[in-house]
Formats: sequence, C-alpha cells, structure tokens
Amino acid sequence: MAGQFAIVTGASTGIGFELARLCAAEGYDLLVAADEPEIETAAQALRNEANRSAIVAVQADLATVEGVDKLCETAQDRKVDLLMANAGRGLGHAFLDQDWDRIRRVIDTNATGTTCLIHRVGQDMRRRNEGRILITGSIAGFTPGSFQAVYNATKSYLNSFSFALREELRDTRVTVTCLMPGATETDFFARADMLDTKVGSEDKDDAAMVAPVGFDATMKGEGDVVTGLKNKIQSAVANVTPAELLARQHRKKAEPGTAKS
Ligand SMILES: NC(=O)c1ccc[n+]([C@@H]2O[C@H](COP(=O)([O-])OP(=O)(O)OC[C@H]3O[C@@H](n4cnc5c(N)ncnc54)[C@H](OP(=O)(O)O)[C@@H]3O)[C@@H](O)[C@H]2O)c1
Repeated sequence: MAGQFAIVTGASTGIGFELARLCAAEGYDLLVAADEPEIETAAQALRNEANRSAIVAVQADLATVEGVDKLCETAQDRKVDLLMANAGRGLGHAFLDQDWDRIRRVIDTNATGTTCLIHRVGQDMRRRNEGRILITGSIAGFTPGSFQAVYNATKSYLNSFSFALREELRDTRVTVTCLMPGATETDFFARADMLDTKVGSEDKDDAAMVAPVGFDATMKGEGDVVTGLKNKIQSAVANVTPAELLARQHRKKAEPGTAKS
C-alpha cells in the first residue's frame, strides 16, 4: 500500500488505534484524528513502531462540521484511498437522567459527524471510482439499548446507513464495510460512565483482535463483519427476537448497579 493514503478517526485509543497500527504496518501514509491532544502521542507511537514518518495527527472535534472541515483541510486535497470512520462515544444511565449536552455529543459524534465526513470523502471516491470506507457500527445497533438508549440508536443508524450507502455504490469501485464489534476492552465504558454495569465490568474482547477483523473485511470489500463467534450468535438471535424483549434483556447488563461484584 506504499504511497496510498488512509484516514483513521478516533485513532488515539482502542479499536481506532489498532486500526491505525494496521494501516501503518501495511505502508499507508496516514492521517489520524481525535478530539483530545493525546492523538499526537498516539501518532508518535505509530511512527516509532512502523519506523515511518508519513503519519500525521490532527486534533479535531468530529462532532462538529468545523472539526470535519479541519480534518479535510489537513488532508490537503490528497486523494483518500481508505477512510476508517471509527470515532465514537457512548453514554450510560437512564435517558431522562442523562445530561442533554452529553446526549447531543453522542449523536453529533457518532451520527452527524461520521455522516458529514463520509459525505465529504465519499464524493471524491465516487468521482475517482475507487476507495474503501470502513464504518465502525456495533452489534449494539441490533438491540434497543435500555440504559444506553441513545448510543444504541446511533449505532443502529450507522449499521443501516452503511448497508444503504454500499448499495448506492454497488456499480462503482468504492466499497463500504461496516465493522460491528461486540463489547471490547477499551476506554469506551469508563468514558460512557458505565463501569458500574455488567457489560462495563465483565471480560470483553481485545481491541487488537477486533481491529484486524474489520481491516481484513475492508480490504476484501465485504459489506459487514461481526467480530467473534459469541457476537455473531448474539446478533443472529437479536434479528429474530422481539424488540421489547431485547430492550428488557439489555437492562440486565447496562443498568447501573448490575456490575459483577
Ligand atoms: N468498546 C466497545 O465495546 C465497542 C463495541 C462496538 C463498537 N464500538 C465502537 O468503536 C469505536 C471506537 O471505540 P473504542 O471502543 O475504541 O473506544 P475509545 O477507546 O474510547 O475510542 C474512541 C475514540 O474516538 C475518539 N472520539 C470520540 N469523540 C470524538 C470527537 N467528537 N471527535 C474526534 N474524536 C472523537 C476518541 O478520541 P478523544 O479521546 O480525543 O475524544 C477516541 O480516539 C466507537 O465508534 C465505538 O462506538 C466500541
């Protein structure tokens, strides 16, 4: 992939950092983005590990159009061969107990910002008739997420959006792949204030195992990939289970106070 250019969002930690590692190892020139200054530290770690200099970081709030503009300006009109739209955040607790600004931030980051970025980058890919897009959805998108309601709804949106966009681009050489992980060991649950929940406190998948599954599916141009057998079974069952029952089951793992003692 020498000379090819990839953008990975949400690359400072977790799944995004692991996706960026894979891009760097494959020889992509890389632009990595996140909202906090730690993205510079992550970029330096990637440069050191891959022994390559063509890895640039941008600190941009991708919940805003201005942040998406900043990311695109940093790319400096370079053609994007690979876009990994991975930045996202969760939010636990009962919907009516959540702070509106935090709710809004989840929607703006996961849904609005991701959609805006793909709209910008995707148009150029379609014009060139080449490119790969990975969207990090989630198996959470198959389940109404009581006590994580807005997050699951945004992931449902992303899963659906990904399939639809892929179909619209069927006759082009632009591929869209939806990576749908299950619960993965990252900073996600602490940031979402969900450590006092079953899902936040139990054993989870390793981000370093999850990312290659998404990366390989993207390289093969596959439409979607659920990581791990347990998650595959869970999502298959979710597809044939009444939504009311799924919402009730979700409470058992996401309601505050359900953490394993
Ligand atoms: N962990 C799981 O169980 C799980 C399961 C399924 C799907 N996912 C999805 O996987 C993706 C990565 O999450 P993760 O688990 O790796 O969590 P993570 O370690 O918390 O990583 C989230 C990344 O997104 C960035 N980000 C968040 N808000 C942003 C914003 N407004 N602008 C720019 N960057 C922003 C964070 O950077 P800053 O720190 O700079 O904000 C960080 O780099 C998310 O889309 C998440 O929904 C996670």
